[in-house]
Amino acid sequence: MSAHDRMPRMSRRSFLSAAVTAGAATGAAALGFYTRRVEPHWLELVIRTLPVRHLPRCLEGRTLVQISDVHVGAQVDDEYLVDTFCRVAALRPDIVVLTGDFISHHDHVLDQVSAVYRHFPNGCLATLAVLGNHDYGPGWSDPELARALVEAVARFGITVLRNEIRDVEGLQIVGLDDWWAGRFHPAQAFARHDLRRAAVVLSHNPDTVDLPGWNGYEGWVLSGHTHGGQCKPPFLPAPLLPVRNKRYTSGEFAVSGNRRLYISRGVGHLLQVRFNARPEVTVFTLAREVTERNMYQSSNGPLPSTPDG
Ligand SMILES: [Fe+2]
Repeated sequence: MSAHDRMPRMSRRSFLSAAVTAGAATGAAALGFYTRRVEPHWLELVIRTLPVRHLPRCLEGRTLVQISDVHVGAQVDDEYLVDTFCRVAALRPDIVVLTGDFISHHDHVLDQVSAVYRHFPNGCLATLAVLGNHDYGPGWSDPELARALVEAVARFGITVLRNEIRDVEGLQIVGLDDWWAGRFHPAQAFARHDLRRAAVVLSHNPDTVDLPGWNGYEGWVLSGHTHGGQCKPPFLPAPLLPVRNKRYTSGEFAVSGNRRLYISRGVGHLLQVRFNARPEVTVFTLAREVTERNMYQSSNGPLPSTPDG
C-alpha cells in the first residue's frame, strides 16, 4: 500500500468547513490590519464652503482650515502628524484653527509637543485654537498642564483662546474653553461679541451647543471631540461616542438658535484603531451667507441704511 493510499480522505463537508474557517481567519486578519494600520493614518481633506453672515468682502474666498484632536502622545505616530501638518501648510491657508485635544497626556508630553508642533501650519492671517478635555491631563483636572501647553504652543504661533474673542480682518473668532474641564464660560467669551458682525465659534465638545449662555449667537460652531466614533459600523450608530447627545457624531448639524454645528473627525486617536471614520482635516472656503436681505440687495441695489457687512 502506498503512503498516498494511507492518508485519510477529506470529505467535501470537511473541506468546505476548513475553507470557510481559513477565509474567515484571513478576513479577520485583513480587517485587523486595515483598522489598526491603514485607516488611522488615511487622512481625508474634507473640502467645504463656510457661509458666514456679514462676512467682510475681504475674506470672501479665503480659506479657514480646521484641525482637531491631534492627540500628540504615546498612541499617535509623530511622523504621521508632521506629514499632516506639512500637507496643510502646502495649502497656504489664510486662517488655521485647532479645536482642542492637542495632546494625550504622559509624563514627557511637553517635550513631544515642542518636537511636533514646531511643524504646525500657521495661517497667513491667524492661527487660533481652543483647549479640549485631554489638554487638562488626567481626569481633565490639571490647569497647570493646560497653562504650560498654551505657553508651549504659543512659541509656534498658535494663540489659544480661553473664553475670549479675536478679530481677524473683521471676522470675530470666539474661542470657548473646555466644558469637561469645568472651564466653559460662554458669558465671558460673548461679553464683547458684536451680534451685527461676522463670527465663528470654536468649542471642543459639541454638547456645549445645548448648554445655556450663547447670548443670541447665530452662526457656525466648529467642534471635534468625538473622533467620529473612531469605529463606526456601516448604517449603525457608533458604539463609543463621548457625548450626551448621540446625534453628534461627525459632520454638519442644525442646532437651536439658528446655529449650525460642524464636528470634525479629528486627526489623531486615543487607541490606534479606526473603522469607517477616517481622520480628517477640514478645508473651508469662507463665503457670505445668502440671506433674504442679501438677495434683495443683489436684485435692488444697496439699501440706504444698516449696512450688511
Ligand atoms: Fe479627542
